[in-house]
Amino acid sequence: MTNRDLESMVETSDEWIVTRTGIRERRIASAEEATSDLAYEAAERALADAGVSAEELDLIVVATITPDMFFPSTACLLQEKLGAKQAAAFDLSAACSGFIYGLATVSSMIASGMYERALVVGAECLSRVTDYTDRNTCILFGDGAGAVVLGRVPEGRGFRSFELGADGAGGELLKICGGGSRLPATAESVAGRRHFIEMAGSEVFKFAVRIMGSAAEEALRKAGMDKSDIDLLVPHQANIRIIQSALNRLDLPEEKCMINLDRYGNVSAASIPIALAEAVEEGRVKEGDRIVMVGFGGGLTWGACTLVW
Ligand code: ACO
Repeated sequence: MTNRDLESMVETSDEWIVTRTGIRERRIASAEEATSDLAYEAAERALADAGVSAEELDLIVVATITPDMFFPSTACLLQEKLGAKQAAAFDLSAACSGFIYGLATVSSMIASGMYERALVVGAECLSRVTDYTDRNTCILFGDGAGAVVLGRVPEGRGFRSFELGADGAGGELLKICGGGSRLPATAESVAGRRHFIEMAGSEVFKFAVRIMGSAAEEALRKAGMDKSDIDLLVPHQANIRIIQSALNRLDLPEEKCMINLDRYGNVSAASIPIALAEAVEEGRVKEGDRIVMVGFGGGLTWGACTLVW
């Protein structure tokens, strides 16, 4: 879906969207597809890349705010599609920070000896909860999925630190109210458009600008690293201006940052794993590189991690 497509739906322009957000296109799932289908594609590719079979997985975590349904979890639907019979499976809800929350949870379980090999997926069909009559939000979001396989790595490689946080007081700024136990689906809730994303854009923007830099700095501090140690920053792909402010704060040139939001828009929990996968495919990551991933989202939530590749 291009900015031109959106011009025919709401009063907006390609020029406004590009200058305010950096987004030019988003990917939209077909009517037959749901989040678990996108998760499956990403999971198959991650398993092939890692040389791991689905039967070897002992845990599957899917970070998403757009599950196929309330339950069974998207992780259970994915477990069945993959034939990962040995794997436990659950979903994780931390909005756009979900992938980092998932990495923190699963890497701790592997470090503790509880599990050996796990799949962490960020997958979303945000188009299903986007109000295409609301120009404040519909220009931002897209659909997609990214996946990684986690397991033991040699000493000196792997995750170095995590920084997770939440501020429930900011929950009102970014939400989908309808369909839960507080506001079950009714004719009124549908007519009132309460099943779509509602967002106080400029408030979220200010929060994001503040938190992206500080969360990344805190993760670096915990790892005993400095800003100058970063070989590649993989930030949540919400808005180019938010990413640029993080780069300024971290004194990083744009060449050290993975940016692909122009083609995907904001894919919530899927943004960071898609950006990481593209960075790897483009040969931008080599063994020993120090990678920082950082994201923010509804909740409010945030998460950052440092990783030696
Ligand atoms: N086209 C044209 N004009 C628009 C559009 C549009 N698509 N959207 C808003 N405007 C108008 C507004 O109505 C406003 O007009 P007004 O001054 O007459 O009222 C004007 O443009 C400026 O609006 P602002 O909201 O101040 O614009 P801003 O520069 O803040 O950009 C944006 C808006 C892009 C939404 C920005 O605030 C942003 O990116 N915020 C962060 C959003 C975000 O990242 N959310 C996702 C979090 S992740 C998750 O958990 C899902």
